[in-house]
Amino acid sequence: MMKGIFPVEKFRNVQTPFYYYDTKLLRDTLNTITREAGRYEGFQVHYAIKANANEKILPIIREAGLGADCVSGGEIRAALQAGFPADKIVFAGVGKADWEINLGLDNDIFCFNVESVAELEVINGLAEAKGKTARVALRINPDVGAHTHAHITTGRAENKFGISMEQLDAVVDSFPALPHVQLVGLHFHIGSQILDMGDFAALCNRINELQARLATRRIMVEHINVGGGLGIDYQHPNRQPVPDFAAYFACYNKHLRRYGQQTVHFELGRAVVGQCGSLITQVLYIKQGTQKQFAIVDAGMTDLIRPALYQAYHKIENITSERPMEAYDVVGPICESSDVFGKAIDLNGASRHDLLAIRSAGAYGEIMASGYNCRPLPKGYTSDELG
Ligand code: LLP
Repeated sequence: MMKGIFPVEKFRNVQTPFYYYDTKLLRDTLNTITREAGRYEGFQVHYAIKANANEKILPIIREAGLGADCVSGGEIRAALQAGFPADKIVFAGVGKADWEINLGLDNDIFCFNVESVAELEVINGLAEAKGKTARVALRINPDVGAHTHAHITTGRAENKFGISMEQLDAVVDSFPALPHVQLVGLHFHIGSQILDMGDFAALCNRINELQARLATRRIMVEHINVGGGLGIDYQHPNRQPVPDFAAYFACYNKHLRRYGQQTVHFELGRAVVGQCGSLITQVLYIKQGTQKQFAIVDAGMTDLIRPALYQAYHKIENITSERPMEAYDVVGPICESSDVFGKAIDLNGASRHDLLAIRSAGAYGEIMASGYNCRPLPKGYTSDELG
């Protein structure tokens, strides 16, 4: 039996909670990305590994030809293990440890995205010790707001990320004294879950101003990395499961002024994997409260922390019941009041052992799982395995 997009019978043989990844949707999404980015000369897409590093998912993304955006040594290892070529690996992050920088240097990765002069000096020293020159891009904080949740906005002056526009000249001036780093790019990222193309257009305008300023100093870099941030439709995961990449890339093509052969790099996470994943959980108990009823499920905030951490909405469906709709608070078993997936959620009438799908959980789901309460980490299965 399939209810909606889920092979429910197959799910009965799998220990819940678990992540289910629809690889057909993932491949459709990747095909759309490569087709739409491919319309424009020099557009190169990297996948932000932080969104989901499941070892069954990464090779599919690599096969589509995307590069990898990493923010830790562990992510660099995961990318290499999945077969991403080192010359398509970018290493970003506000606090890179020496061993992580050395890992990048040893593998001759494409570029380090650098966030301060102090970091530039450390990379220069470590590269010198290896007789190498590191390729670096400067991460600039463009002070552009994004219409998204405060915890996932990154491009405002008050955020910890990047080098401010004011400090940029001083940072550029430091390069002649640092012969083991080579400036090859500029890097930006204004936030995540952005659906308003106007925010990306605002970023482009800021980059244009900055590049015009650098041009007066005859500084022109090989590539502009505009970060990621394209959002997905959490309310209606089935309505447009593949995000509007056509509009996204067209926006950058229209608004970003490029110099010479400059390439444009993107690092998308959520938009690549968000809709292909669901967290499948089993109802343990239906509990009647005084004013409401609770569906107590076996997944908790340890498996998917987004609702607790960001008050994020994920659509929840009962995939084993056709009974009339009733309202439930869907809660997990963790000893925390914030362990709630949704309040007053309409579900087909639920009973013990029903399976619920918590949708749009492919990005920042499995990867953010924790072992709190000594719980085992959830496993991930693909539709290739479960049919
Ligand atoms: N590039 C940089 C520099 C980033 O910091 C991020 C995400 C990305 C790319 C990828 O962004 P995306 O395309 O996925 O929006 N855990 C949060 C999201 C944190 C995003 C962190 N940075 C959540 O669950 O919503």
